[in-house]
Amino acid sequence: MSFPIQRSRRLRRSEAIRKMVQETELSAADFIYPMFVVEGSKVRQPVPSMPGIYNLSVDQALEEARQAQSLGIPAVILFGIPNHKDARASGAYAEDGVVQKAIRQLKKALPTLQVVADICLCEYTDHGHCGVVTNQDVDNDATLPLLAQTAVSCARAGADLIAPSDMMDGRVAAIRRALDEHRFESLPILSYAAKYASGFYGPFREAAQSAPQFGDRRGYQMDPANVREALKEVAQDIDEGADMVMVKPALPYLDVIAKVKERVDVPVAAYNVSGEYAMVKAAAQNGWIDYSRVMLEVLTSIKRAGADLILTYHALDAARLL
Ligand code: PBG
Repeated sequence: MSFPIQRSRRLRRSEAIRKMVQETELSAADFIYPMFVVEGSKVRQPVPSMPGIYNLSVDQALEEARQAQSLGIPAVILFGIPNHKDARASGAYAEDGVVQKAIRQLKKALPTLQVVADICLCEYTDHGHCGVVTNQDVDNDATLPLLAQTAVSCARAGADLIAPSDMMDGRVAAIRRALDEHRFESLPILSYAAKYASGFYGPFREAAQSAPQFGDRRGYQMDPANVREALKEVAQDIDEGADMVMVKPALPYLDVIAKVKERVDVPVAAYNVSGEYAMVKAAAQNGWIDYSRVMLEVLTSIKRAGADLILTYHALDAARLL
């Protein structure tokens, strides 16, 4: 049947009817808000390439997290920026590491807010790579025990979810085993399963001071041209014990999100990364696009593609509008 019997515009005539037939609904409950935590107190240092985002000392992170929770956002994910970086990333698994301190404070003050610990070494190594470097190469198997140790130390601090983002092979299994050995068998893992070697991480690396000092991350993160490989990575991580999986970045990989969603039975998260955020902010600051409208369109597209959860720097802005 076609026109004039079929008239699609009948269901678009008013806000009320459009709302009735709307297929995707964005909500603050979908968001995980990323925060960058630094040492010190009363620090609120703007990240130049990410307007509205700051490097926060723990006391300030607490205020920001309180805001997030009051807007209906259920979770935050923490990235630590230590004062001291070294070859073995010792700040990542230090008992009094900056993230460990932040987790303890957040959980004490806001017990129902879910605190996700990003597990990676790149913010803590002096060379900026995500693992231990041997002979100019990131050493996969030597990195696994350090990732496991980092996960256990964040678990001890009180993290609710463990999120490995390093892209070493076998890290989900290594982390699962270590958590279980330390009686954290009930703590879930959200793995960055399909993480691409993306140019969209630029602003994050400025914020976290984690750009690699030599080479790049293409030897461990995925080739943007591949999608079949993403399904393999996802299957493997679930096999190793991942409770949820993530696709990252989000906007240039909506097809990957959709395919992963079709294939798996676990919740799927997508990371609307720093460069995606920076593009929208920059265009809006130039008056070239309408910030609120474009932001909600972007986030809706990620949810429509199949993401159950969205990690996004827009979380507070979006939640205020929803
Ligand atoms: C750590 C990590 C990165 C991001 C999240 N975790 C950076 C990277 O891989 O270089 C990027 C997030 C963003 O760009 O918003 N490995």
